[in-house]
Amino acid sequence: MSSSERRGIVAIDGPAASGKSSTAEWVARELGFTHVDSGSLYRAVTAAALRTGVPAAEWTPALVLGAADDITLVPDGHSLVPAFEGAPMTDEIRGAIVNAAVPRVARMSAVRAWVNDRIREVARARNVVVDGRDMGTAVFPEADVKVYLVADPWERAKRRLVQHLRRLPTEAEIAAETDRLVHRDAADATQSVQARDALLIDTTHLLQEEQVARIVALARAALGGRG
Ligand code: CDP
Repeated sequence: MSSSERRGIVAIDGPAASGKSSTAEWVARELGFTHVDSGSLYRAVTAAALRTGVPAAEWTPALVLGAADDITLVPDGHSLVPAFEGAPMTDEIRGAIVNAAVPRVARMSAVRAWVNDRIREVARARNVVVDGRDMGTAVFPEADVKVYLVADPWERAKRRLVQHLRRLPTEAEIAAETDRLVHRDAADATQSVQARDALLIDTTHLLQEEQVARIVALARAALGGRG
């Protein structure tokens, strides 16, 4: 396939709560691309496994993949989001129980293959902005644009809490959330890799619109006529 026939791929990776998904969604809107959050698929598979009632310690790849059978991707604005038996999974996949169980599921290679197949399927038919931990490495090494977003853990924890609580969190709340994020980063370390050719953006002191503008400009330059 020549490069002019190939779909555009923008890959945004980074650690927990680094702002990947909201940035990716905004970039997709600017470019008229479809956004897919790979983390939401790992979360959806985890929530579906929790629905079986089997304790997480006993989950096997077969059980998890069986539960994943009922998950599809459905449109929501510029994004495709996971749905269970057709119903979009929203709050269920963002809770503390899923947060704690998801790294265990994400380490199962059969689950990684399942998630990656779903995302590659979308990218065959559309221009995409994808986000996660390994989009620019394992899944789309050929991506047109690769970005790795980082931010100070305290700042990431604060942003995540503001998003969830819709108020300013206390120092104690931020400290506890920072611990949870750092713990999840450690649990995810093997699958979180910065591509050598990714642009590193530290968002600690950036406004979201600034990082979006940088990524959109980069994408327009890289995609040329495909953007
Ligand atoms: O946004 P946040 O950092 O909280 O996490 P997420 O992107 O929603 O991803 C949730 C979990 O899915 C992570 O903690 C990883 O365990 C897993 N994940 C992964 O292993 N590979 C990806 N490409 C994306 C997520």
